[in-house]
Amino acid sequence: MQLDPEDEQILAGERGETQQKMLELLVALGKVFGAERLVPIRSAQVSGASYKTIGKYGLDWLTSLDGKAVVPAVLNPIGMPRIRWQEMGINPDFAKKQQDVVAAYERLGIQLECTCTPYYLYETRFGDHLAWSESSAVSYANSVIGARTNREGGPSALAAALVGKTPSYGLHLAKNRKPQLVIEVNIDSSLWSIADFGALGYHTGKFVGNRVPFFRGIKPDPDQLKALGAAMAATGAVALYHVEGITAEAQKIQYDLSGLEVITVETKDISCLFKEIPVEAIAVGCPHCSPEELAEIARLLSGKVVKKPLYVFAAQGVIDRNKTIATSIEKSGAKVYADTCVVVSPAMEQYHSIMVNSGKALAYVPNMCGGQARIGTIADCIRVATE
Ligand code: F3S
Repeated sequence: MQLDPEDEQILAGERGETQQKMLELLVALGKVFGAERLVPIRSAQVSGASYKTIGKYGLDWLTSLDGKAVVPAVLNPIGMPRIRWQEMGINPDFAKKQQDVVAAYERLGIQLECTCTPYYLYETRFGDHLAWSESSAVSYANSVIGARTNREGGPSALAAALVGKTPSYGLHLAKNRKPQLVIEVNIDSSLWSIADFGALGYHTGKFVGNRVPFFRGIKPDPDQLKALGAAMAATGAVALYHVEGITAEAQKIQYDLSGLEVITVETKDISCLFKEIPVEAIAVGCPHCSPEELAEIARLLSGKVVKKPLYVFAAQGVIDRNKTIATSIEKSGAKVYADTCVVVSPAMEQYHSIMVNSGKALAYVPNMCGGQARIGTIADCIRVATE
């Protein structure tokens, strides 16, 4: 692997032990995957942030490190909102450990935005190299924006944040970004909601696996793309997809699709996922809400009062920039929380069944929260929460 003089200095320990260890980790990873060099990154997004997922050993490892991020880097959602955690019913012992995790990351120079939608907060451009961890963020960056990132583990994303580089392999290389199968959607999707695209992703992720699909027959908007990619990354391991004429590279590159396997999706594949089971709580914002989604929720809740717990999750920066809308949502009794989400917060484990508008949450809630999940549109979610 080609290393520049600065890398050699770091490997010789001239910038401290943590930088040395972090670069050793990146070089080892690069060697495993056949990377020829390291590539500078524009930003990092670091998973392994919820105490629910990393536990004591993860926290001990983080506190043993000593260094500073050299590129903008944010955290994945943690197990609770950094403020207002008491009102979410978080156990104080858990809160203390979660605060220790956050403090450890802050000491390492990671910005305390805990979100899977960093693209709403920091400019991310076509062709940028990134080291992002969370699967929906990775999918959005690669597919919708046309940036380049592999699906990093927490330690490799943290290492990239501290060094400012990542090994150049996988989706950093153009040759690995070509479509590998075609998905024909034989349904009129012109009136589809975000939930419908989440359901499409839930269905297709199961057979796409980790390949790069090229969709035909759909025209999703950015929020719908976000839902499609998040769900495909949950039931499969899709880190990049293309939609004809819509996604970043599909607009610029004429891909040769000849000879690729073609799979057709029919109405029944999607409609069977919309089962009407009774629910105890409703959660919207997986991935974290965009400003447009917050505005839609506020509009639907206007003049209504929630009768079942309704959680809305978004990045703190997005909530701060849309304070009036967030306040209007909370007037109904719904809660708008930052930093955490339906899957990583232990507070959601108290419910036996949760309604979501997300294909990703539909896939994860049963295993991660221990309850049943039901998918519906945002309008259905608001109706169930207020009727
Ligand atoms: Fe984001 Fe949590 Fe969903 S990290 S994609 S809101 S499971």
